[in-house]
Amino acid sequence: MTGSVLPSSPSGLRPTLPAWAVVSPERVAHIERVAGLVSEWAEAMGIPDSERNRWLRAVWLHDAVRDATEEELRRWAPSADGPASLRHGPASAALAKAGGETDRGVLDAVRYHSLGLAEWDMVGRVLYCADYLEPGREHEREWRAELARRFPRDAGGVLREVVRARLTRLIASGWPLPEPTVRFWNSLAVRASA
Ligand SMILES: [Fe+2]
Ligand SMILES: [Fe+2]
Repeated sequence: MTGSVLPSSPSGLRPTLPAWAVVSPERVAHIERVAGLVSEWAEAMGIPDSERNRWLRAVWLHDAVRDATEEELRRWAPSADGPASLRHGPASAALAKAGGETDRGVLDAVRYHSLGLAEWDMVGRVLYCADYLEPGREHEREWRAELARRFPRDAGGVLREVVRARLTRLIASGWPLPEPTVRFWNSLAVRASA
């Protein structure tokens, strides 16, 4: 496995990338922006340090092997279906588990971050939103910035908006909807109407 030269993360955003990460500099910049946003939210929401640490662990892990080869991803996540864009989460979760990560919420956040998962605790929900709302993405900047500002006081409402936007794009692309994604959306829709 080829490791990359790891930059030291800004101290407020620790932990940092795992030693086995395979990431381009652009990917590291994305991960740092996600960590920055999550850290801002934790601060604004008065989240205790132990929980904030779980959020940041998931952030640093989520795209840690996003730039690995198809062959490597297939080796690390043999049972995951689909292209690299869907395999890198399961592969990173498997590597994290092998490396000693035991927190089910953190591992599920990483494993399903491209799909969504109905059973997620707050770690998965925060990562799913921050991954989409981080300020480096090009599309719909103002709308996403408004959602990012709103998250600390309306996390559930923002999550529904983000899932709706991501699903709308997925449907427009003509891709079939993965089963965990459908269950995730239905769990949120049911909550909204309850
Ligand atoms: Fe990802
Ligand atoms: Fe990401």
